[in-house]
Amino acid sequence: MSDNAKLEFKGEVYELPVITGSEKESAIDITKLRATSGLITIDNGFMNTGSCLSSVTFLNGEKGILRYRGYPIEQLADKSDFVEVSYLLYNGELPTKAQSDAFYADISKFASLPDGVKNILNQFPADAHPMGVVSSTVSALSCFYPEFLNPEATDEIKEKAITQLMAQVKIIMANFYRKTIGKDPVDSNPALGYSKDFLNMMFDGEIDDEVASALDTLLILHADHEQNCSASTVRVVGSSQANIFASVSSGVDALWGQLHGGANQAVLEMLEEIKNDGGDYEKFIAKAKDKNDPFKLMGFGHRVYKNFDPRAKIIKVACDTILEKLDVQDPLLEIAKGLEQAALKDEYFVQRNLYPNVDFYSGIIYKALGIPTNMFTAMFVLGRLPGWLSQWKELREDKVAKIARPRQVYVGETERNYKDISER
Ligand code: ACO
Repeated sequence: MSDNAKLEFKGEVYELPVITGSEKESAIDITKLRATSGLITIDNGFMNTGSCLSSVTFLNGEKGILRYRGYPIEQLADKSDFVEVSYLLYNGELPTKAQSDAFYADISKFASLPDGVKNILNQFPADAHPMGVVSSTVSALSCFYPEFLNPEATDEIKEKAITQLMAQVKIIMANFYRKTIGKDPVDSNPALGYSKDFLNMMFDGEIDDEVASALDTLLILHADHEQNCSASTVRVVGSSQANIFASVSSGVDALWGQLHGGANQAVLEMLEEIKNDGGDYEKFIAKAKDKNDPFKLMGFGHRVYKNFDPRAKIIKVACDTILEKLDVQDPLLEIAKGLEQAALKDEYFVQRNLYPNVDFYSGIIYKALGIPTNMFTAMFVLGRLPGWLSQWKELREDKVAKIARPRQVYVGETERNYKDISER
């Protein structure tokens, strides 16, 4: 029996090769379909379209499985740390002790920003949205490191890209936060460890190990998620051989929207709104179900997870630990728990397989850590950087990768003649 798929159209049969991945997922290769049949495919939101072959992250939304380079997210969240996970995503294997030390030493080399970048950061108004600040400052880095602009120098760029961006984005975020509260920046001290250094640059004080470790876990959970909106954006931009800063900056922009990474800010704002409205979450569930109301339950639903989001399970436990550790009594947590329980029993949500996603609880943790609400999505950036960079690296190493350029089905006017303005 042939492994090819057959498509019949207007009496002709077209054979299409089927590709099978290492987890036995199959895909029909339609690359030559237009040349042979004149047909293209159309797929709103790329719901059913694979854009690449990738060995970075595997996820099975029906079974709630997420693995980085084959390692289950549960094991990585429990046993690893964010720097090691970043190395794993970028290089494909867990590092030895020597490799891990060398990787962190490379991150530590970038413990400051060029003066020009500091000046740019200082020009943003204190109430600027941190995502706009991160996106434009990452883009601006391309002006300070011209050696990264040469698409032929991929090997040298790969050497530095991940360590430099992991170090500098962390500093950009913390320095801008200090400006918003009218305080001087705190120097990076990589000896503290990646997550503790970030918290120290933000809050300039004694940082509890357990708190730093909880942040580290959150960063691990966000580190990659295969071909999501922002990773695909990084790949699309990178496919034109635009420089790495431009590619990552576009990923930041794609993440910003509330249907993607912006959901964590939107969840907290929604919980605040419910609290200020008297705490009746049933009323908001009814709004979310009302097709005449644009309101959606933020932090619920996912394009690929149709059973549960394995990251949300881990985050819920981390959330309880942090709130207990910091002795935070947050009424928003009670509202979140009530809302989750009520929605999980509701037929509308059950029928549509709508479950809490990773962003449902992350905001409550960030809030407990003292991070302002409008900075939550930038925290997601910090976590997602190694994923974007690993996807970009894979793209640049793919000898058959092509510039991303979808087609369309045109539904506009057919040819017509220009009319002089006096005749219109
Ligand atoms: N609240 C109420 N209804 C919802 C929700 C929600 N949060 N999410 C989906 N639905 C409904 C849709 O209205 C639709 O109903 P219908 O079949 O009656 O028309 C059905 O469930 C399917 O939803 P789609 O929007 O078609 O699913 P899609 O895969 O395109 O969207 C998305 C996924 C964007 C995540 C969506 O669930 C959503 O908007 N959720 C809220 C925002 C959010 O939490 N985003 C973060 C995602 S995780 C991440 O990116 C980090």
